[in-house]
Amino acid sequence: MSISITEKYSPLDLSRATVLLTGGASGIGLGLAENFVKAGSTVIVTGRRESALKEAQEKLPGLHIKVSDVGKVEDREELAKWAVEKHPELNILVNNAGIQRRVALAEDHDWPARQLEIDINCSGPVHLIDLLTPHLLKQPEAAIINLSSSLGFIPCAFGPTYGATKAFMHSWTVAARPSYAKSNIRIFEIIPPAVQSNLGGSHDYGEPTDEFCAAVFKKFTEGEKEIGYKASDEWRAPDRLGNDKIFQEQTEKTFNGKYKVFEK
Ligand SMILES: NC(=O)c1ccc[n+]([C@@H]2O[C@H](COP(=O)([O-])OP(=O)(O)OC[C@H]3O[C@@H](n4cnc5c(N)ncnc54)[C@H](OP(=O)(O)O)[C@@H]3O)[C@@H](O)[C@H]2O)c1
Repeated sequence: MSISITEKYSPLDLSRATVLLTGGASGIGLGLAENFVKAGSTVIVTGRRESALKEAQEKLPGLHIKVSDVGKVEDREELAKWAVEKHPELNILVNNAGIQRRVALAEDHDWPARQLEIDINCSGPVHLIDLLTPHLLKQPEAAIINLSSSLGFIPCAFGPTYGATKAFMHSWTVAARPSYAKSNIRIFEIIPPAVQSNLGGSHDYGEPTDEFCAAVFKKFTEGEKEIGYKASDEWRAPDRLGNDKIFQEQTEKTFNGKYKVFEK
């Protein structure tokens, strides 16, 4: 399979797919889960709160749920073992779970919290890919979908660690594609712009979740490898000076005056 992002993958048969999607009780994860279910896939979603998973199951009958924290090594190992035993036809992994901490570096020195953000957003996806690749290689066709962010391309001053974790996921995904190119595993990246969800605390600005999920899911079914949407299609374009201008504008809008900064 070609590694070029301008060449599409051949479509997957989603009517026979089994999908493990992390962080699927709400937000973008639940929206993507709904699209997979509509396409006829068997879908297992994970999350830390059992109550939220049960609510998701009520909204989407047929959804399989599993309590699991992607930020913990032992949970990831247990999840991968459980998923393969319980759903041996598992062939799609969606690394969706993520958190965002909004911080002022001048007053926030909480290392455990920073480390948790890195563990959930970076260690989780990479470890799950390592754990499940041997199983995915045995399937007739398979896919891994990583969620990065427009903020992985243009960082946000209110979340330096968050943006960096998403840049990590973008870079990792691009760099991993050649290793999988001769295999049955297709490697996708979804790059959301701001989407209405609970990320970083409840917010209703950004793209409507349902519209966003339907649009990116369509691009995924068409085999597009690197999937942007509206602002993230602009932000992911490699234009250093243009991106610097957007960074300055966004910092003015979302950071300056709201967060404490270092002063001498
Ligand atoms: N919304 C946006 O504007 C936006 C933009 C760019 C990228 N993204 C990315 O899109 C993905 C989904 O975000 P979202 O906006 O849908 O956020 P969300 O509304 O906060 O939903 C995140 C979901 O992930 C689960 N989760 C969080 N930490 C977890 C963990 N350690 N283990 C397992 N599940 C966990 C949460 O459930 P529990 O709390 O019960 O675990 C929740 O159901 C993230 O990777 C995010 O970085 C979002």
